Amino acid sequence: MIQIKDVSISFGQQRVLENINFDINTNETILVVGQSGCGKSVLMKIIAGLLIPDRGSVIIECQQLTKSNHKDAIKIRQNLAMLFQGSALLDSMNVFQNVALPLFEHTKLSHQEIEKLVIEKLALVGLKDILHRMPAELSGGMKKRVAFARAIITNPQYIIYDEPTTGLDPVIASEIINLISKLHHTYSTTTVIVTHDLYCIEQIAGRIVMLADNNIIFDGSYDDYKNADDKRIKRFLYSTER
Ligand SMILES: Nc1ncnc2c1ncn2[C@@H]1O[C@H](COP(=O)(O)OP(=O)(O)OP(=O)(O)O)[C@@H](O)[C@H]1O
Ligand SMILES: [Mg+2]
Repeated sequence: MIQIKDVSISFGQQRVLENINFDINTNETILVVGQSGCGKSVLMKIIAGLLIPDRGSVIIECQQLTKSNHKDAIKIRQNLAMLFQGSALLDSMNVFQNVALPLFEHTKLSHQEIEKLVIEKLALVGLKDILHRMPAELSGGMKKRVAFARAIITNPQYIIYDEPTTGLDPVIASEIINLISKLHHTYSTTTVIVTHDLYCIEQIAGRIVMLADNNIIFDGSYDDYKNADDKRIKRFLYSTER
């Protein structure tokens, strides 16, 4: 279980999150939605321990992520992976090195074993024969899928996907959604998905948490979300400009 308690963060004069409270229960799937710039990625980075909030705390399986418990935080983080919105591949490393990175850092597996796992995970996301390509030689959608393979390479218990389908063609997007569901059902992965993609929201139809005006304005089921009266929710669901 991950508990987000009274989390607030500002950047300079700009207040982004104010007293955010919610729990992510083990095995559940949460969709985090909200307008561009409302703080979704910031919140995900706080949950992953990559950004420290000005106030409040994140507690993962009863262990608090803070600056001071760096060692524990690393341990916790091995069990928590994040697919970054911008893929965040390391440009100077090839696909194999990028995907294998968490295994080289946190395990003592042999090169051969690691290569086998990398090939296996890349196959899961529909990629093969690209181990030696550099990120600059990949399309946006391929980068996203390589980043996806890297996020799941250690079979983490918690996975945060920040816009997993944005920029992908509809066929691959729906394959990625299926893969997220499959990982969730096969490994009981606790899953948090940040998305603007209504198709993704509809397919997953999990608990929805919506951010707006620095706070959580909705936390509930997809059915309740669709029927909610809030203007900001209606705008999110029915605007074509998103
Ligand atoms: N490291 C940072 N330094 C300063 N400001 C930041 C930083 N990270 C995010 N922000 C600001 O915080 C706000 C929220 O950013 P965030 O990336 O969380 O938005 P988002 O909800 O993920 O939007 P999108 O849907 O476009 O990805 C933005 O106004 C952004 O400019
Ligand atoms: Mg974002």
